[in-house]
Amino acid sequence: MSNIIDYLRISVIDKCNFRCQYCMPEGAKLNYLLGGELLTNKEIATLVKDVFIPVGFTKFRLTGGEPLLRPGIVDIVRDIARQPQTKDLAMTTNAFLLANLAGELYDAGLNRINISLDSLNPETFDKIIGNRGRSRWQQTWQGILAAHRVGFDPLKLNVVVIPGVNDREVLDLAALTLDRHWHVRFIEFMPIGNPELFGDRAWIDSEELRQTIRQRWGLEASQVNGNGPADVFQIPGAKGTIGFISQMSECFCDRCNRIRLSADGWLRPCLLNEQGQIDLKTMLRKGMSAIELQQQVKQLLAIKPEVNFKQRDSGTDAGVYTRTMSQIGG
Ligand code: GTP
Ligand code: 5AD
Ligand code: SF4
Repeated sequence: MSNIIDYLRISVIDKCNFRCQYCMPEGAKLNYLLGGELLTNKEIATLVKDVFIPVGFTKFRLTGGEPLLRPGIVDIVRDIARQPQTKDLAMTTNAFLLANLAGELYDAGLNRINISLDSLNPETFDKIIGNRGRSRWQQTWQGILAAHRVGFDPLKLNVVVIPGVNDREVLDLAALTLDRHWHVRFIEFMPIGNPELFGDRAWIDSEELRQTIRQRWGLEASQVNGNGPADVFQIPGAKGTIGFISQMSECFCDRCNRIRLSADGWLRPCLLNEQGQIDLKTMLRKGMSAIELQQQVKQLLAIKPEVNFKQRDSGTDAGVYTRTMSQIGG
């Protein structure tokens, strides 16, 4: 792996208040972590400050499950933001609890936010998130508007495109970028931890979506560079951008810049593969010194695999998952 790995995705909780069908399918057995199994707020801060920053990490993203369910999330943000080496501190959330927290998070030093929004239609939205009660769309939308109001920029909306469910909304979702400075990203559904959901045509190739958008408005490569796996485009004259995250039809391992820390303290080298992962929490709790922990992280970086779905499915390399997406943190 020749890339610089300087971006850590930190999952702060495995629980979620949604049940997105591609992430936590109905009936899936989720054994949530117990209190003592989670890294404490202090342990997260210590690992960031004494281990990851000295190894060269400067970009951090807080994920879940749903990170806003984590008690003390604003304190976690503040602790990471106040490290002078932190160049970028972001969060991925479903925004359901965001309306009341956006201001506090912004003031604590969070500088960007990615929000899952799979549909503009409340009925479709509720179906995707597995909600049978009062619609959750409106409160989620209010969370997005609050994030916009307090000034999160860029503001990215993640759409996992599911054939026959929300694929007809691609133009409506893309249209959000016409007069808003937002980044809408269409994501190819990945078969992680829930392969039973993955039929013959569970995902839609990004190129197919680009064609649809191109035919309606035209589409050009954007000057705005993504920070990660998205290929970024723009409708000519639009204020925002449209990204495509195409891990099923393309491979972006050669530009991968990240590793993942789970809520229970396992450091995972790759979304698709947990081989070589290390149990940082136990090492920390056993009293391993900061220098020794840094050494462990460096060793993991040295073996970080490059594996994509094509290699995995052709048997060239086997992804290893014992966790669902919500337990990995996306
Ligand atoms: P930025 O580019 O920093 O804004 O974030 P991001 O797009 O990487 O993060 P986000 O949490 O919004 O994730 C968007 C989608 O990209 C999700 O479906 C993630 O699972 C996917 N993703 C993020 N990192 C990787 C990766 O390393 N490999 C693969 N295959 N997918 C990833
Ligand atoms: N495939 C693609 N994206 C997924 N996400 C969750 N599960 C999957 C999956 N199986 C996305 C969510 C969220 C981000 C963290 O990961 O939409 O925006
Ligand atoms: Fe929750 Fe995000 Fe998974 Fe949906 S995709 S169930 S919002 S963790």
